[in-house]
Amino acid sequence: GVNLSTEVAGVPLASYVLNASGPRCTSAEELKIVGESHSAAIMTKSCTILPREGNPEPRYQNLDLGSIQSMGLPNLGYKAYLEMIPTLKQHGKPVIVSVSGFSIEDNIEMVSAFQQSAVDLIEVNFSCPNIPGKAQVAYDFEQTEQALKAITALGDKPIGIKLAPYFDMSHFIAMADILKQYPVKFITCINSIGNSLVIDPETEQPIIKPKGGFGGLCGEYIKPVGLANVRAFRELLGDDVQIMGVGGINTGVDAFEYLLAGADAVQVATCFEKQGAACFERIETELAQFMAKKGYTSLEDAKGKLKPL
Ligand code: DOR
Repeated sequence: GVNLSTEVAGVPLASYVLNASGPRCTSAEELKIVGESHSAAIMTKSCTILPREGNPEPRYQNLDLGSIQSMGLPNLGYKAYLEMIPTLKQHGKPVIVSVSGFSIEDNIEMVSAFQQSAVDLIEVNFSCPNIPGKAQVAYDFEQTEQALKAITALGDKPIGIKLAPYFDMSHFIAMADILKQYPVKFITCINSIGNSLVIDPETEQPIIKPKGGFGGLCGEYIKPVGLANVRAFRELLGDDVQIMGVGGINTGVDAFEYLLAGADAVQVATCFEKQGAACFERIETELAQFMAKKGYTSLEDAKGKLKPL
């Protein structure tokens, strides 16, 4: 069989596939289901200082090739996740908290609190596109640098950053140069493609309510963008920073493509939303079978080994 175990920032993962922050990971009940599934870790919904209801509905719509959403960070507030950590740890797998403050001060407060907890990794979300009037931190390089300086100095637990998708080589280079200056242990690429618009030609309306219909595009549509982001950062960062790949992973072959691009682990969002928690075991089995067919025995055999054409 193929060994799918991996490691991110010193934290061992029993397999290559975990849930992404986003779908089905907001409440204690949902997180319990992730804990009982084959997901290699338990990742929480991005939290804020205070509990939030999120944006007005309809705010999520399935599409044939993914979804569009403008959830607006509905979550229980970080203190609820802090309290849940001991219970979540009982599932015997790593717990990763996603933190999404509205300011550097918010992120300092939340990261400091989680540094004192039993959480294994902290993923700081610099890329939520769905809060009206709030720019995505990851598109503001100066703000990213200031935030990184502050949040990487708060303790020894590994910090990772959830990045927005980039579409220009100069942006990959600028972000990689910033990341190299701070002890960022992993990056997660990519968040949804923000401010996309899906129009229903029959009703002549957008299909989600918030922001005039503008929302994050997810799923199969965005896999080539996710692969490019993982590949670009792997080439620019070498092996100094680990990378979790996200975006359009529905099958084991999708996960294998992210492995070739250089991902150390992959996260599943839209497929988990659509199919439920059985998707993790299915994707793992498909990945192992596809790799076995190729004669590979471990992830390292193929990681980052995209071949030149
Ligand atoms: O697409 C996204 N939607 N990305 C985020 O980071 C947050 C989420 C939401 O709650 O709107």
